[in-house]
Amino acid sequence: MKIVVDSDHEALRAHVRAFATREILPVAAALDREATFPDAIVKRMGELGFLGLMVPTEFGGSGLDTISYVILMEEISRACASCGVIASVNNSLFCEPVASFGTDAQKADVLTKTASGRMLGAFALTEPESGSDARTMRTVAERDERGGYVLNGSKNFITNGPNADTLLVFAVTKRDPTRPEHTGFLVPKGTPGLTIGHHDQKLGIRAAHSASVFFENVHLPSTAVLGEVGAGFRVALHTLDGGRIGIAAQALGIAAAAYDAAIAFAKERQAFGGPISKFQAIQFKCADMRTRLESARLLTYRAAAMKDAKVRFTVEAAMAKLAASETATYVAHQSLQIHGGYGFTLDYPAERHYRDARVTEIYEGTSEIQRVVIGADSLR
Ligand code: CAA
Repeated sequence: MKIVVDSDHEALRAHVRAFATREILPVAAALDREATFPDAIVKRMGELGFLGLMVPTEFGGSGLDTISYVILMEEISRACASCGVIASVNNSLFCEPVASFGTDAQKADVLTKTASGRMLGAFALTEPESGSDARTMRTVAERDERGGYVLNGSKNFITNGPNADTLLVFAVTKRDPTRPEHTGFLVPKGTPGLTIGHHDQKLGIRAAHSASVFFENVHLPSTAVLGEVGAGFRVALHTLDGGRIGIAAQALGIAAAAYDAAIAFAKERQAFGGPISKFQAIQFKCADMRTRLESARLLTYRAAAMKDAKVRFTVEAAMAKLAASETATYVAHQSLQIHGGYGFTLDYPAERHYRDARVTEIYEGTSEIQRVVIGADSLR
């Protein structure tokens, strides 16, 4: 697969980096410390077209490709991983499935508003007792004799949950012990019976709010169905293939920030008569960090190029996410180590990178699930 990163992509990188350095980086540590949802930044990202980057312009998006999206995610996450995941969920997990599976009416209304940043979306798949084994969800949508569906159940860890205007919710529409069927629904905030819990207190990405979501006899019209009735699990997994590229790119951004911080610190910090950058122990760490970062970047760009080429990219997205997320935790760990005691304080960003990196191995499919996807394909 040919990976083409052209001058338009590099111009986008420069544009996003300038925005993130000017408007996000100066407040990133405070947003994290206080776990404040970055309303103003999300509004600006919407105005700049960053929340519906791959959505066609006729539906309020920027009409760019997946390589552009990877660049966006790298650069935003380099400044603030919380802002990165807020944008990623809106782009990959909400706008993408509505653009791919939505009706004309859904695209004209909810997609156009969400891609242009006038509304925010969330993706509600995970439940308290069904995370990796997503198929075993318990939330149920039953046919209502008055027409439409009635939704009951709960979801948890829903990123953007407290801030979203519309949630894409997956529910069982045909109970079957061996082969249940699922369907996706677009559920607007304020629908009677929908309750969103208080945001979770988390180890990292603290400014991106996640919450539990409860459905108690939520009546939905048939027009709320996204895609075909009964095809919801495939919609969810297809959506997650794209989402995993976004999280891989978020992980690259975190790793790049941690790497840059380590290099700057190593050149500055004096020990044993000179800067610690002179020691082979530090140089070897930097060599490994950089090599892993570049390898993960190539895998991520390859998965993006395959998505743009419209060939199946499930395995490549899983490889990209696996490599990039494990690279992020590795690089953030080494960066903190190079910072020594300073890295363990809130005076340096190394500890934030370390905390933020960790979740990239968990959400949108754990590293173990990525290995399941890759391994099953290898042994098919
Ligand atoms: N795209 C489309 N369809 C797919 C697919 C894909 N990538 N992978 C599988 N399918 C289809 C299969 O063909 C099959 O279709 P049929 O029923 O028609 O035969 C169906 O989906 C079921 O496939 P499997 O038998 O492989 O499914 P499974 O139950 O064994 O589970 C799994 C597979 C890979 C473990 C899957 O459950 C999974 O990915 N789990 C992880 C869930 C996850 O990533 N959750 C993230 C939550 S969102 C989040 O984290 C957001 C956030 O906070 C930022």
